[in-house]
Amino acid sequence: MKRMPFIAGNWKMNKTVSESIDLIKQLKADLSRVEGVEVAVAPPFTALYAVRKELEGSPIQLAAQNLFWEEKGAFTGEIAPTMLKELGCHYVILGHSERRQFFGETDETVNRKTRATLKQGLKVIFCIGETLKEREAGKTFAVIQRQVTGGLKDISKEEMRSVVVAYEPVWSIGTGKTATPEQAEEVHRFIRKKLEELYSREIAEGVRIQYGGSVTPENVKGLMGQENIDGALVGGASLKSETFSKIVRFKEM
Ligand code: 13P
Repeated sequence: MKRMPFIAGNWKMNKTVSESIDLIKQLKADLSRVEGVEVAVAPPFTALYAVRKELEGSPIQLAAQNLFWEEKGAFTGEIAPTMLKELGCHYVILGHSERRQFFGETDETVNRKTRATLKQGLKVIFCIGETLKEREAGKTFAVIQRQVTGGLKDISKEEMRSVVVAYEPVWSIGTGKTATPEQAEEVHRFIRKKLEELYSREIAEGVRIQYGGSVTPENVKGLMGQENIDGALVGGASLKSETFSKIVRFKEM
């Protein structure tokens, strides 16, 4: 089975509404006529509606960066899955290391969010990755295994078809230190093996596994050349159309 490459831009806490509109207009222009690759952008919540309107009729998909698992109620400051669904989001990024690091997310909360998101028929970009300390202590695979089994607990085979995994080694996020294609591939292969054990060969072969962490137009092709790397989750380089659209066009480079 050939997996469709998937490049997503995580804008994190960047771009006001007007800056988001400028960027998405430029992206639409730069990415017209790109085929054979799925593309998504994840603006901050405040810009989702405006970006969605700009994206009408465009193949670029919309992602949110987080949500809360409850359907509605007294949860000041939180956003529910149905709100994102009605807004026209296709994906929700969950378990990003910045949320784990700064906002106390755990495998358990990531799991609750993942279940609530899938229940609404939204797709999930499920993020995992080890810290530098964990890598240096030789714990990379143990951490990945824990995050995969904990974060995907009670997710059915059918639901797994709506999950994209993003492997983002924490030490490579925003540092300019990309994992080498071989380093990344080793972990991606391990993740796919775990998915096979938890689900089935067919499911594991179908799940896209993105790499994230200092992806640039210069290093994307080497990463995408690996058998188990099916896309990229791009932070810094997604904030400019010039760099993000080059990453999306990795095949032409
Ligand atoms: P950078 O591309 O800025 O390293 O960020 C990666 C990331 O965290 C994407 O979610």
